[in-house]
Amino acid sequence: MSILGKLFSFFSHDIGIDLGTANTLVFVKDRGVVLSEPSVVAIYNKTRKVRAVGLEAKKMLGRTPGNITALRPMKDGVIADFEVTEAMLRYFINKVCRNNRFVPPRVVIAVPSGITEVERRAVKESAIHAGAREVLLLQEPMAAAIGVGLSIDEPAANMIVDIGGGTTEVAIISLSGIVFAKSLRVGGDEMDLSIINHLKKSYNLMIGERMAEDIKIAIGSAAPLEEELTLEVKGRDTIAGLPRTVVVSSVEIREALCDALTAIIEVVRQALDRCPPELAADLVDRGIVLAGGGSLVRNLDKMIGDATHLPVTIADDPLRAVANGTGAVLHNLTFWLNEEY
Ligand SMILES: Nc1ncnc2c1ncn2[C@@H]1O[C@H](COP(=O)(O)OP(=O)(O)OP(=O)(O)O)[C@@H](O)[C@H]1O
Ligand SMILES: [Mg+2]
Repeated sequence: MSILGKLFSFFSHDIGIDLGTANTLVFVKDRGVVLSEPSVVAIYNKTRKVRAVGLEAKKMLGRTPGNITALRPMKDGVIADFEVTEAMLRYFINKVCRNNRFVPPRVVIAVPSGITEVERRAVKESAIHAGAREVLLLQEPMAAAIGVGLSIDEPAANMIVDIGGGTTEVAIISLSGIVFAKSLRVGGDEMDLSIINHLKKSYNLMIGERMAEDIKIAIGSAAPLEEELTLEVKGRDTIAGLPRTVVVSSVEIREALCDALTAIIEVVRQALDRCPPELAADLVDRGIVLAGGGSLVRNLDKMIGDATHLPVTIADDPLRAVANGTGAVLHNLTFWLNEEY
């Protein structure tokens, strides 16, 4: 490393970012995850100036007056609105580097394995514009595997399934490389949409995305529960046009989630089907590790275990797995910057 490079690393705090569809997390070297906020930005429609970012903006989703739009600039795991994503990145980077503006940080960003070269370049450019000095893109499943502490550098298979808001990433990793990866544009958002549709169809009740997510978290499940749950749901009656409350059960929500969950299991099966036999044999003992917020759907681990006959575990801190992985890479960043992952 050059003398200037050494000086820079001494003064700057390199950071890792999990730029997720639902949540953005920032890991600062030697400090851990210091920021975790929804990937939502509220902007003024006319000027496109930012009104709020993160938690504050999420509270505005579906509740804004005509002159403001609260939007999620990342959709399906990729950047849907570059300008707004950049504004969001800049806001988060500035927030964590507040005391240290004079040396820009090096930044590791986890991106979905399925994004195109054009999308990769766009993420890099956004980060540079947002104040990064150097950018390393790390594939999300690799970051997740490192983050949950799998020994990825051994010549043995590890399988990670990261179920996020916009995407599900399935990967088999061995010798620090990805043997098989598939990114499916189905995740928590799709589950929320199914819940919205179910309530519309069965009860003529319109609910917003936030309410749908609340229902999923409160009573969502993949396989029957020992004790089924119910929840009071408030929304707008589509016929009378008035606010109304209905009681929904975990049984019907499970049915609503079925398509999204089946799609996820299908990709896991595909991965196993493509897996070379030696590595498949490793998985019988090592099993599958689940990460991402979607892995918290009740009994999803059981459903995946039943479908694959493999042991399934949920990561200790599934929502932070990817961010922790980007953080672990920071300790050896110069090495990683010279590799292609
Ligand atoms: N307890 C829970 N039960 C079910 N779903 C949950 C729970 N907690 C969070 N989620 C869901 O997890 C998703 C967010 O997970 P995560 O933060 O891992 O996604 P992301 O990394 O932002 O998205 P992506 O990786 O697709 O870009 C949301 O859809 C959220 O509703
Ligand atoms: Mg994610």
